[in-house]
Amino acid sequence: MADHNKTLGEFIIENQKDFAYSSGELSRLINSIRLAAKVVNHEVNKAGLVDILGAFGDKNIQGEEQQKLDVFANEAFIKTLTNREIVCGIASEENDGFITISGREKNNQNKYVVLIDPLDGSSNIDVNVSVGTIFSIYRRVTPAGTPVTLEDFLQPGVNQVAAGYIIYGTSTMIVYTTGHGVNGFTLNPAIGTYYLSHPNMCIPEDGHIYSVNEGNYIHFPQGVKDYIKYCQMEEDDRPYTSRYIGSLVSDIHRNILKGGIYFYPKSSKASKGKLRLLYECNPMAFIVEQAGGKASDGFNRIMEIQPKELHERVPFFCGSKNMVEKAEEFMKNA
Ligand code: AHG
Ligand code: MN
Ligand code: MN
Ligand code: MN
Repeated sequence: MADHNKTLGEFIIENQKDFAYSSGELSRLINSIRLAAKVVNHEVNKAGLVDILGAFGDKNIQGEEQQKLDVFANEAFIKTLTNREIVCGIASEENDGFITISGREKNNQNKYVVLIDPLDGSSNIDVNVSVGTIFSIYRRVTPAGTPVTLEDFLQPGVNQVAAGYIIYGTSTMIVYTTGHGVNGFTLNPAIGTYYLSHPNMCIPEDGHIYSVNEGNYIHFPQGVKDYIKYCQMEEDDRPYTSRYIGSLVSDIHRNILKGGIYFYPKSSKASKGKLRLLYECNPMAFIVEQAGGKASDGFNRIMEIQPKELHERVPFFCGSKNMVEKAEEFMKNA
């Protein structure tokens, strides 16, 4: 039974012992993300009323047209984390390079770096479909007090100390893990407080939902085509249901709750797929694994990949354990 009386603030304090290393610092960090999420939530909610829908007029490093809310959310998270000097570095989908936070008076002694996808599913904003934010936190590998380096950000996902997402949906939720299971909190907008609504989230081992942009079918590798046909075949508990929102956060959130597989494979048009290893795949992989699921690039565990660059892309298969394993089998045998 969900403990609807417990707030996120209380939960963070009670579970400080779960945070690896310096507990106070990581708690403050999660707290600032919670705060920035409220600011973004407020803006997303009124997007149709104020002039914040549509394109910003610039392209980001990914070659994507930035939406006004992409820029707003990016600034909101960076400002909150920078002003409070809570981390020593930030990398974002919307910035070419990483940001170094050096501190005002003393050298910044903070030990954590944050990697964010400030607004996920931004092409859906204009049509009032759920969007999200994804974050990933690592302990820096270079010594505290010195400026962060690329090395601090290019760590394999297994080194994450925390990861989470915020979903700005019919209700706003924050779901995160520090490596001790996954918990979900729902915002009560009347009082601006998040309550523990989904304690200890677990993804079913099997599911009946497959989520993929099937419009790209013709460009997919043979293994993916075969797996899609398997999902559609009338046999045992199949055909599965197809559900694809086009917002990674929403698609993964639904699949965690109901059971399912999400995949964004490589294609003849995009040799590494579309999703970003550091801002999207690693944090989602950490959350889904902590919920009992699996995440791979079709062959190898996502979280064991050694990143080579900030904006690296990777094929992504993520969700219910048995479904991901089945997809891997098709990949291997193709
Ligand atoms: P973002 O809005 O952060 O750039 O991410 C978009 C991603 C992800 O949210 C979604 O699952 C995927 O792009 C959808 O891509 P397609 O439109 O190619 O299916
Ligand atoms: Mn984008
Ligand atoms: Mn995204
Ligand atoms: Mn984004």
